[in-house]
Amino acid sequence: MEQQLLMEALQLPLSILYFSFAISFLYFSLIFFFLRSRPGCNSCELCKSYLDSSWSKSFDNIVDWYAHLLRQSPTQTIHIHVLDNIITANPDNVEYMLKTNFDNFPKGKAFSSILGDLLGNGIFNVDGERWNFQRKMASLELGSLSVRTHAFAVVSDQLRTRLFPLLHSVSSGGGANLIDLQDIFRRFSFDTICKISFGIDAGCLDLSLPMSEFAAAFDTATGLSARRAAATSPALWRLKRLLNWGSERELRKAIGLVDMLADEVIRQRKRLGFSSRDDLLSRFMGSVTDDKYLRDIAVSFLLAGRDTVASGLTAFFFLLSSHPEVVAKMREEIDGVLLMTNNCCSGQDYIVPSYDELRAMNYVHAALYECLRLYPPVQFDSKFCLEDDVLPDGTFVKKGTRVTYHPYAMGRMESIWGADYSSFKPERWLRDGAFVPKNPYEFPVFQGGRRVCLGKEMALMDMKTVVVSVIREFDVEVAGGVRLPKFASGLTATLSGGLPARVHLRHRRVSEECHC
Ligand code: HEM
Repeated sequence: MEQQLLMEALQLPLSILYFSFAISFLYFSLIFFFLRSRPGCNSCELCKSYLDSSWSKSFDNIVDWYAHLLRQSPTQTIHIHVLDNIITANPDNVEYMLKTNFDNFPKGKAFSSILGDLLGNGIFNVDGERWNFQRKMASLELGSLSVRTHAFAVVSDQLRTRLFPLLHSVSSGGGANLIDLQDIFRRFSFDTICKISFGIDAGCLDLSLPMSEFAAAFDTATGLSARRAAATSPALWRLKRLLNWGSERELRKAIGLVDMLADEVIRQRKRLGFSSRDDLLSRFMGSVTDDKYLRDIAVSFLLAGRDTVASGLTAFFFLLSSHPEVVAKMREEIDGVLLMTNNCCSGQDYIVPSYDELRAMNYVHAALYECLRLYPPVQFDSKFCLEDDVLPDGTFVKKGTRVTYHPYAMGRMESIWGADYSSFKPERWLRDGAFVPKNPYEFPVFQGGRRVCLGKEMALMDMKTVVVSVIREFDVEVAGGVRLPKFASGLTATLSGGLPARVHLRHRRVSEECHC
């Protein structure tokens, strides 16, 4: 009798469950059918290759395939119909969309909805008035001397008190200890950007601790948001989001954690007072009172400053491992500059160069740019066309189409860099020993035009400080020899499998000319 009652009680929920499953199955089958038979693409080799991933037989990464296609295209522009995505590596087109006809190429609603759950109304995800306000505020702050001085002090301090001691302890095992440099740079830049942006110590660079909960949730959230952007149809992730299912369920959980921790940071900042602080959040708090808006601004700054810098540093050490001649030239320049300023063997435990010393290092600067050319942290960036338009190369762009400029491919165009485009050659950035920048629409690694990166100077200074200090003190040996990088999916370039390396303390010979 009891068993019968139990069965009757379970009947209704089981039927609902079964019904939901059947509906979901039908829906997914329809979407799958729709994607397979999308009109206009059955005859297009490019789209077929995208859909069945056959490109991966010849290329390690999709960005390498795109770079190949863009080099072959007479206009340096291609159209992936299944994604309704025009991709260009043509500098005239890039200038047109980022500057000349900027208003017709906003981020757009499609982009905002992909990243909306994570970034909300933060600067990366908005157009119009909200963007204008944050842009003005952020450029005032990031351009101010006090914030730059504060940022430089934070980076130098993190190096002296965290990164150096860590690398020293790793190197003391006689090079037996294998570390993942990418992981270390991600921890370093997370700590640094948290301190610069919020004035808090995230403490990620303590390897005995797991990556902070905040950082791990942030990783999951950015990775899964990027997956949405690569989907051939938004219908799929939207449905999964509606059902709170699979990766969307995971994304919701990760964003919940990011929200909780961002709220906590804002609460702490308010409690401790913000009017006399140098961090970016405190400065925004002076004009923004809505906590949700503050959370969105804070999360955007984390995204801007964390993974980009870590990605640039990882790629740099990856490249240096197969270019000892570049390391030797950088060391020669560093020693020369530090000798001139009497900072070559000062009494400090660890020498971190000053801002002016870094500015005097042209070769190091050129090597860093050369690395960003070959391995830009933001490999591609998309806008959505508002009204029908024609790009300077003659490509017609229908209203609503996604248009992507592709810094990764542009760094590998023979038409921009010459026949030796694939060589790592810092000299291409130097004239008579002085660094000469490239037109931003040929090298849009920091974007260009009205939405050009606001953290460019800070990021370059940050990376240069780390590179100069580390290569002066240590030999870094990347394990496994030279290999082609394989990227993991995400909003910024990340090496799949990390960058395993050994670190050896150098026995520097202090120059006889030194008078310190
Ligand atoms: C190597 C390091 C970096 C690279 C390669 C880089 C690159 C870029 C790119 C490509 C964009 C355009 C993105 C888009 O429109 O979606 C951008 C925007 C931006 N970046 Fe950076 N970035 C770097 C570091 C930083 C840092 C350290 C900060 C600040 C702490 C920062 C702040 C910003 C901001 C606020 C924007 C938004 C500009 C706007 O929409 O008006 N970036 N960056």
